[in-house]
Amino acid sequence: MTVALGVQEAMKSASWIRRMFEAGQALKEQVGADQVFDFSLGNPVLEPPEAFASALRELTNAPPKGMHRYMPNAGFPSTRQCLAQALSEEQQQPFVANDVIMTVGAAGALNVALRTVLDPGDQVIVIAPYFVEYLFYVGTHGGEPRVVRAADDFDLDLAAIEQAITPKTKAIIVNTPNNPTGRIYTPQRIAELAALLERAEQRYDRSIYLLFDTPYAKITYDGRKNPPLFSDHKNTLLAHSHSKDLGLAGERIGYLAISPRAEHRSMLSDAAAFNNRVLGFINAPAIMQLALERSLGATVDVASYRRARKTITEGLRDAGYQFASPEGAFYLFPRCPIEDDLRFTEILREQHVLVVPGRGFGWPGYIRVAFCVEHEVIERALPRFADAFTRARQV
Ligand SMILES: Cc1ncc(COP(=O)(O)O)c(C=O)c1O
Repeated sequence: MTVALGVQEAMKSASWIRRMFEAGQALKEQVGADQVFDFSLGNPVLEPPEAFASALRELTNAPPKGMHRYMPNAGFPSTRQCLAQALSEEQQQPFVANDVIMTVGAAGALNVALRTVLDPGDQVIVIAPYFVEYLFYVGTHGGEPRVVRAADDFDLDLAAIEQAITPKTKAIIVNTPNNPTGRIYTPQRIAELAALLERAEQRYDRSIYLLFDTPYAKITYDGRKNPPLFSDHKNTLLAHSHSKDLGLAGERIGYLAISPRAEHRSMLSDAAAFNNRVLGFINAPAIMQLALERSLGATVDVASYRRARKTITEGLRDAGYQFASPEGAFYLFPRCPIEDDLRFTEILREQHVLVVPGRGFGWPGYIRVAFCVEHEVIERALPRFADAFTRARQV
């Protein structure tokens, strides 16, 4: 066999979203793309904002000399400086350019961060339901994921987290707003988590990193906001991206930010830049860095996601589905009307509706519905969601 056994194993367990995607492709060929209602992928439907598009036009019309060449592995100094300034204002902490490493999306930032802090056998706490890639990223860098279930309302279960910490714990990944639950953790919960981590650091005499993952930070509802991220735990890292807030998922632009209060702050920064290089990213895409710098603060039209959220939450509630309204991101995570989430996704597929079973996020019995789709797709799909619900109850 030419493909590594570990990779073959990983591919078998990894592929719920991909399997749904492939089933969806087959269905589209069979019945026509406009007859398939695809809520399986978190692929943002909104176009980048005009401020970003015009920055890009300017850059292509009058490119700064050398724009397309190699650069420092951590990114353009000017882009890092701009982001450090924005982060300082937003987080009320004194970031400098060196604290920001430009990366290939949040996925790149997470991989760079994990490679920077993990020794072989170190454990990383991952909260279920989770973004499944975390498990692979941790494994890729020699770590061992320790899955801790969220509370029933999908808040952080601090007692369970404390219990899961061992002398080998090196990091915890916290995703807020959360994919798939839509939860935003409160400032108080984050402060309590930080206190718990600092107690554990003292107990085991080692750094434990709080690694935030915030691609959905700007997509929030009902006046909710992400909590301050750097006020509490000193060893905090942030993986952020513009895949969702600027609608640039295919362009691969994000960054890793290191807390100005982190122990060994500049060593972490040097190591992260090195890891950006040796992971083969070399540096984040040049033109994206420059366009980002020139359109800082712009976002996609979040009002459009608000409208989608309203339509789909009202429609699914009327049909009998049970879920908490998402506070951020663009996912619903309803309980299935039957226990078997896989069977329920099949019943939905018979209605030409594609979603991902909760087991793909370590949380069976639920489904994830990504509502970052055209509004008319939601409207046309609602009767089908309702039919599937009734049908599942009859079987
Ligand atoms: C929770 C979470 N983290 C990270 C990522 C990866 O984002 P990026 O496209 O910036 O690599 C995603 C993408 O869907 C996500 O949902």
